[in-house]
Amino acid sequence: MSAIKIRDNIYAVGARDPEVRIFHGYATPFGATYNCYLILDGDKKILVDNVKTAFTEEFFSNIEEICPVESLDILIQNHIEPDHSGSFPALLERCPNLEIYCTAGAQKGLKAYYGWEGACHVVKMGDTLDTGKYHFQFIPAPMVHWPDSMLTYLPEEKILFSNDAFGQHICASVLYDDELGEERLMERAQDYYGNIVLPFGMQVTNLLKAAAGLDIELVCPSHGVLLRTYIGKMVESYTKWAKNETDPNKVVMVYDSMWGSTEEMTRKICAEFEAEGKQVHVHCLRDEHYSAVMGDIVDAHTICIGASTLNNTMMPTVAAFLTYMKGLKPKGRVGLAYGSYGWSGEATKEVAAVLEGLGWEVLPIRKQLYRG
Ligand code: FEO
Repeated sequence: MSAIKIRDNIYAVGARDPEVRIFHGYATPFGATYNCYLILDGDKKILVDNVKTAFTEEFFSNIEEICPVESLDILIQNHIEPDHSGSFPALLERCPNLEIYCTAGAQKGLKAYYGWEGACHVVKMGDTLDTGKYHFQFIPAPMVHWPDSMLTYLPEEKILFSNDAFGQHICASVLYDDELGEERLMERAQDYYGNIVLPFGMQVTNLLKAAAGLDIELVCPSHGVLLRTYIGKMVESYTKWAKNETDPNKVVMVYDSMWGSTEEMTRKICAEFEAEGKQVHVHCLRDEHYSAVMGDIVDAHTICIGASTLNNTMMPTVAAFLTYMKGLKPKGRVGLAYGSYGWSGEATKEVAAVLEGLGWEVLPIRKQLYRG
């Protein structure tokens, strides 16, 4: 990738990772990007975030198209997870006098990750950075989606550097949302929300309130395409998802089957729902990664989990999915636990217990069929 000009003196200098297929346990069939941005304000050179360690040379080479890496003055580190901070040690090696702006949580995280003991400007809500023409505004957003997370707004350009918020995991050949298309954009954004942001609805609502008064023309997230046309649609969807608003007509079925009987139950239950006019999304865990289901979970009212009993417990694929989903804490759903068994039938009870643990209303259905 090369540096991409997004405004007269603002460049995207991040890295593309088209081949990544698992991003910390989250399937990324369309790859990912680690976006970061270089802003020139007179003789001041400001960097917003950096990239995963393995992409440091590509990142440096992008910066070098605009200016020497050694000439950078300021790093705004919005978030310290390694996909945005992996180049931090290499950056400091080349720019030992770099001034760093980050939250207190980020300062702690940089120390923990990289053994960094240097000084930085610890920022809080409402703090600004004056670089001459520009006045960066810091918007800490704890738990969207880490304790240290922050967004940075540049009022003179009406740009919001949103870090993980509003991101999408896709390594597209285009730069902007309207070039990707609304349907594809929102499908990738919902998948991302379900896998990354879902547990933090209250914190997202707080962030949306904090950002409501900003005049935003361009959102520059740290993953995926930049938003210029569908900002309103994205905010509307985040508002709905954060409030845990689900579609009463949407049903998700997730299952694995040992000898085909639980699959047969899936087909029959699906047909019943469809006969009622419901929209049913079916995921077989034998064929799909467990994280691929989460986008659908974001707005589905009814979730049905099918598992055959294998060796007196649920099938491992279903156990893995439930462990993953439990961590992402979808709330207020109606659950159905179903599955076939030959001898003892523990799986359905185990699945029902997990769904009940999430506080859902749960109906278990077991069927003894010797095909498992
Ligand atoms: Fe994209 Fe929280 O890292």
